[in-house]
Amino acid sequence: MSIVDTEVVNIKFENFIHTQKNEDLFRKAYRVNEVLKSGVLTGNEALGMISLNKLSSKVRLKEKDGYCHDVIMLGSNSYLNIANNPKVIDASIKALKKFGMGMGAVSNYAGICDLHKKLEEKIAKFYKTEDAIVFPSGYGTNVGVISALCNSEDIIINDSANHASIYDGCQLSGAKIKVYPHSNMKYLERILDRIPNETTGRLIITDGVFSMDGDIARLDKIVDLAQKYKCKVMVDDAHGIGIVGKSGRGSAEHYNVEGKIDLNVGMLSKAPGGLGGYCAAKREIIQYLRLYARTYFFSTALPASLAGGLIEVFDLFESDKAGRKELLEKTRHLKNRLFRAGFNIGTSQSAIIPVMIYDEKKLFKLYQELRNQGVYVNIVTYPATRRKECRLRLCVMKDLSYYELDKAADLIIAKGREYEII
Ligand SMILES: Cc1ncc(COP(=O)(O)O)c(C=O)c1O
Repeated sequence: MSIVDTEVVNIKFENFIHTQKNEDLFRKAYRVNEVLKSGVLTGNEALGMISLNKLSSKVRLKEKDGYCHDVIMLGSNSYLNIANNPKVIDASIKALKKFGMGMGAVSNYAGICDLHKKLEEKIAKFYKTEDAIVFPSGYGTNVGVISALCNSEDIIINDSANHASIYDGCQLSGAKIKVYPHSNMKYLERILDRIPNETTGRLIITDGVFSMDGDIARLDKIVDLAQKYKCKVMVDDAHGIGIVGKSGRGSAEHYNVEGKIDLNVGMLSKAPGGLGGYCAAKREIIQYLRLYARTYFFSTALPASLAGGLIEVFDLFESDKAGRKELLEKTRHLKNRLFRAGFNIGTSQSAIIPVMIYDEKKLFKLYQELRNQGVYVNIVTYPATRRKECRLRLCVMKDLSYYELDKAADLIIAKGREYEII
């Protein structure tokens, strides 16, 4: 029986995760394939396009059906487009020529060179911590750090909007997991207050800048509560590093609590424009992670070309010359246009702008039409957020001109009116 022939089957992402009773292991994959071919919009059918040129405000896309066209890029996490900075490229090429394409080994077994060490030193200095460790994957950083430090005797308290990699790390650790509603500090305190006295290992984890909403975690309150209830604090500032805080040092700087975060995690793949992730902390903690974080110990090191380029990136961050202020001004401009037109754009404090749609059917159509008409944005729905909170997710890039921002805003506003979202 084909899924398309039957009305009984509810076409939802989560219905294809588990193998059904008496079903072949691969049957769920074939069922998804049938849905994608059926013409029913699920939000996934348009994924898998490719870029034909390097990242800039305008990117040439090749759609899955082979159609090629130019789009205004409002969907990249490389907010500063620093990956294309000439100094960064030169440093990366130099390292590539010296060390070749890949390192051929995990970090602890001669998989790193002086550039990896220098990058870790730069990151530690940037955070004013004693040491830092660089992982070859951002996702693997959260999974590795959390599962190394926590186990079944411990308790981890998470913001509900934390990134999937944090939740996966928590699951793998075997620790008891508690979740408070997004940024609800009263609820967080209620959880902390009820932790049994005998639970010794306590870790509060939060995104710094939340990846789907662009708002900043209440780190001022979180560090106070952590002190009161004897918890450690881990912040994943993937979208804050290089962007927020008075000199771009991220969410902790924004709240003036640098030095009070125990585990400063961040990704090298967003504003830093490369790949990988890091944790900056006390020397003993980093040494422990080098031995016990399995995504570090059992995974091949970052290519030297990335380490070389990223050293330049941290130099630019350190001197605040990466174009952060220009980015924030442009973000403000686009937010103002969308807010004044009547969209709910949440309370973003970063370069991420959520444009709430609340209706998946409208979202999928809107997303397609924007793309067809030359504006690339991302869509977000389950499993990244709850379905009823589905949205467009716009990421502003420093290289976008005001003309491009206005052109994109005009189209989003016109479509928002057509679909009666505003
Ligand atoms: C908050 C957050 N943490 C971790 C990650 C994972 O980083 P990467 O894509 O570099 O693996 C992401 C990326 O989506 C993120 O948004």
